[in-house]
Amino acid sequence: MKTQKTTVGSVSQEVLAFTAGRDVELDVNLIQADCIGTAAHVTMLSKMKVNPAIITAEERRKVIAELKEIIVQADEGLFEIRLADQDVHLAVERTLTEKLGDLGKKIHTCRSRNDQVAVDLRLYSREQILGTLDAATSLISALLIFAKKNEKVPMVGRTHMQPGMPSSVGLWAAAHTESLLDDCALLINAYELNDQCPLGSAASYGVPLPIDRELTSALLGFSRPTHTVLYANNGRGKLESVVLGAMSQVMLSLSRMAQDLMLFTMPEFGYFTLPDELCTGSSIMPQKKNPDVIELVRARATRVKACELAVYDLIKGSPGGYNRDLQDAKEPFMDGIAMTRACLLVLAPFVQTIQVNKDALIAGFTPDVFATDRALELVGQGVPFRDAYHHVKENLGELESMDPVKAIEQKTHLGAPLGIDWELLNDRAKAVAETVREKRRIIDRAVAKLLKM
Ligand code: ARG
Repeated sequence: MKTQKTTVGSVSQEVLAFTAGRDVELDVNLIQADCIGTAAHVTMLSKMKVNPAIITAEERRKVIAELKEIIVQADEGLFEIRLADQDVHLAVERTLTEKLGDLGKKIHTCRSRNDQVAVDLRLYSREQILGTLDAATSLISALLIFAKKNEKVPMVGRTHMQPGMPSSVGLWAAAHTESLLDDCALLINAYELNDQCPLGSAASYGVPLPIDRELTSALLGFSRPTHTVLYANNGRGKLESVVLGAMSQVMLSLSRMAQDLMLFTMPEFGYFTLPDELCTGSSIMPQKKNPDVIELVRARATRVKACELAVYDLIKGSPGGYNRDLQDAKEPFMDGIAMTRACLLVLAPFVQTIQVNKDALIAGFTPDVFATDRALELVGQGVPFRDAYHHVKENLGELESMDPVKAIEQKTHLGAPLGIDWELLNDRAKAVAETVREKRRIIDRAVAKLLKM
């Protein structure tokens, strides 16, 4: 059996390949995080009150310079994680040791790889959540413009998919917007939970040297350290499932909107037309214009949920402390986030270019759609509601069609078709964007300071 030498001992090549799994590729997404986490750890070591110093201020500067170099290389796709490294953590340590000799060998003092991967994933998560919020706010803006523009365009409101009551395109779009705004609140909640620094737990049980976890947390721009060193590790997987939970709520909103769009763009409905360039054709039927994009959004909602469940299931029976199973949460975590972001991004241009067919929307207004409005008109004349209901029900054939525009103009109470508080929705969207800006300011300031030599 062929063995391979690694930084942490020799193993058979088969075992090395099997245990590294997809880390060699996936950890490319964590290079920058690993360097920043290492910069904070080394800075903290350089300030530790021990004699002799583990790392001097001058040595710290040298390490930071090399870490910056690795970040530049990674940006250009040039930093290599080899199979013998197993993962990004040992690739960074190997590189620092190649460049700095013994100094490189000191950087792992008082920390474990579990520590590193836990902090890397939180650094990665915070960027990803902010990126997802950016994409969500773009879609929300597009939806709000579309909704406001079509505020007075009538649309039959449905229950059980059957015609129900007069409604509007504006209400339809505003409702999907509101759902996404709630999802943003969940993403921000996930962000706050994520915003705790696990660094300094070492192998989960602390170290017999006076490391300063408050300091590393502040250096990285986290709001606080996680408290117990054991939960710092046990929180891995839980954190990913919380983030994916918020992502799958986003996907739930998108999938339902996609489903509506599929229905409303069917020729039988013809409410909306999608632009040709956002649809696909058929290899056999020359006339086809298929809404594959929104079908795939619906499919991805299933897959993102599956990612969340995969992570949850992986950890639900996991004993405390680090177990290698946790490594396998990385793939569904990264996949689930990437899918969610891609769906948000692909839908914004969709919404901007939907063509609204007013005639087809108005043609949907058969007289029965006004049945409830008629009953409530009778209530206005003093008839008890149940009597009015029965009267209309027994005389459905005599119902007269009303002007759908006038019908929706009468619905002006809070949140009704003509009672939508656009300012409230816009303010919520602006607050999300402001939260993202604020979080980014904190991160950028901390990281710039940390990497300054
Ligand atoms: N690549 C590993 C992971 O993702 C890093 C931690 C390895 N730790 C260990 N004790 N083997 O989990």
